[in-house]
Formats: sequence, C-alpha cells, structure tokens
Amino acid sequence: MNDQHAPFDFAGATAVVVGGATGLGLAMAEGLAEHGATVCLVSRSEERARAAAATIAERFGRPCHGCAADVADESAVNRLRDRVTELFDSRVNIAIDSAGINVRNPIDQISLAEFEAVQRVNITGAFLFARAMHPLLRAAGWGRLINVASIFASRSFPFRTSYATSKGAMLQLTRTLAIEWAAEKITVNAISPGPFITDLTRPVLDNPEAYRQFCTNIPMARFAEPHEIVTACLFLSSPASSYVTGAEIVVDGGWMVT
Ligand SMILES: NC(=O)c1ccc[n+]([C@@H]2O[C@H](COP(=O)([O-])OP(=O)(O)OC[C@H]3O[C@@H](n4cnc5c(N)ncnc54)[C@H](OP(=O)(O)O)[C@@H]3O)[C@@H](O)[C@H]2O)c1
Repeated sequence: MNDQHAPFDFAGATAVVVGGATGLGLAMAEGLAEHGATVCLVSRSEERARAAAATIAERFGRPCHGCAADVADESAVNRLRDRVTELFDSRVNIAIDSAGINVRNPIDQISLAEFEAVQRVNITGAFLFARAMHPLLRAAGWGRLINVASIFASRSFPFRTSYATSKGAMLQLTRTLAIEWAAEKITVNAISPGPFITDLTRPVLDNPEAYRQFCTNIPMARFAEPHEIVTACLFLSSPASSYVTGAEIVVDGGWMVT
C-alpha cells in the first residue's frame, strides 16, 4: 500500500461509502473495488445496499458488503460503526460520506422542517459519520475521511439556502477535523462536485430550459458523468496523498474559476 509507483493499488485496504448505492457514491465504491479495496457501501435501504454490493462483488470478483443506515439517526450510525467494526476487524482505511439531499425553493417557501431535514442529513450526518469512523480510521494505521461537499459550499444560486448552507458547513467540518486528526495519520479532505448526472440533479436534467441555463455557468458547458468523480476519490483515498489534508478537490468543468 505504500508503493508510490502504484498509488492506486488498494489491495488490503477497507472502505466504507455512505450513499454508496447510487450516483457518485456508487461510482466511488466501484472505483475503489476495481482497484482492490474491500468496500462496505451504505444506503438507507438494506435491500438497495445489498443489491449494489452484490453487483460490485460479481463485477470485480472481490467481497463487497452492503449495510443499512440513516446518517441522520445517531443510533443508526452507531449501529453501522458496530457492524463495520465486525466486518473489518476494527480497521477502516477509507471513509466516504456521499449522502446528501437538496430542496430548491425561495426562503419564504421553505418550512423549518425542510431546512432542518437538509442540515440533518448533509451536515449532522457528516458529523455523526466522522465521529463514528474515527476510532476505526485511527486503528487502521492510516486513514482517509472524504466528505462529498459541493461547489455550492462556495458558490451559490437563489433558492439554494438549505443546501448551500449545509455544504459550506461541511467544508468547515472537513478543515477542522483535518487539523484535529493530523497527528493520527488520518487525512480529511473534501471533493466538491459541480453538476453531475445523478438522481439529485433530476429536477434540472428533466427540464431542458433549466439544464441549458445551468450549463451557461460551466466552461465545459455540460453536466459530468458519475465516473468523472472517481480519480479524485482514488487520489484522496490513496496513501500517496499522505501530505494532503484539509483540502478541497473541485471537479466542476471549470465553474469555480469563472
Ligand atoms: N449530482 C450533483 O450534481 C452533485 C453536485 C454537488 C454535490 N453533490 C453531492 O454528492 C453527494 C451524492 O449525491 P448524488 O449526486 O450521487 O445523488 P444521489 O444519487 O441522490 O445520492 C445521494 C445519496 O445520499 C444517500 N442518502 C440520502 N439521505 C440519506 C440518509 N438520511 N442517510 C443515509 N444516506 C442518505 C442516498 O442513499 P439511499 O437513497 O440509498 O438511502 C443516496 O445514495 C451528495 O452529498 C450531493 O450533495 C452532487
């Protein structure tokens, strides 16, 4: 695992990917499995998690586990920690939080419950997951926590109050834990995607005028395919990124530099 000439060889490494049954989380789980990691992917639905894990196991010929947990629920996250402790003998090298939800409305049309639901999944969930994974990352000898934030952590649009607020907080969680865990050989970084073709962006993808308008912000003038997130994940997951912590890798077709 320390061979700088094969930085993406994850043989012997263990990974937990929350949000791993769909979209960007699934693409990252597949990428890690393809490069040799043993992955546990997590969904709110046990059935969805097991089905995605079985497909990965068959495709890459290695064990892959599927677990159910709602990151907004503290006891569910603690049960996930106990399950992963059992599965991976108390050691996790790579923990990825790709769980996220969005509501898109002007502020006077967002109920407190909707606003809080977004914070609960996107930022409280990230906190609960990080806290639960910490002892396992420490025990592994080297650890990687990757939070999937968004360019909405730094850029914004009207009608994104809840989502942009939660993703901005996620970057600060990432930076703070990077400092807190630096002496423990655990790096903590964020990937900030621009727009990707997943269920999360379905409301924009299903509206040709909204899609066209959205693309005017992007120098590459298109949404990305989920597989285009994978190399950022492999880099931040790898022992080869040992001196990268508290960083944000932006994968956005150039939006952030406009
Ligand atoms: N697509 C984009 O353009 C884009 C851009 C910037 C950032 N992102 C971020 O990328 C991440 C992945 O999103 P995606 O685009 O891949 O969309 P997605 O396919 O809808 O994925 C969202 C994931 O979040 C999981 N999730 C939602 N609520 C959860 C909860 N309470 N507990 C556990 N898991 C929960 C879902 O898992 P289950 O439904 O299986 O439970 C699902 O796998 C999100 O954090 C999103 O904010 C996406």
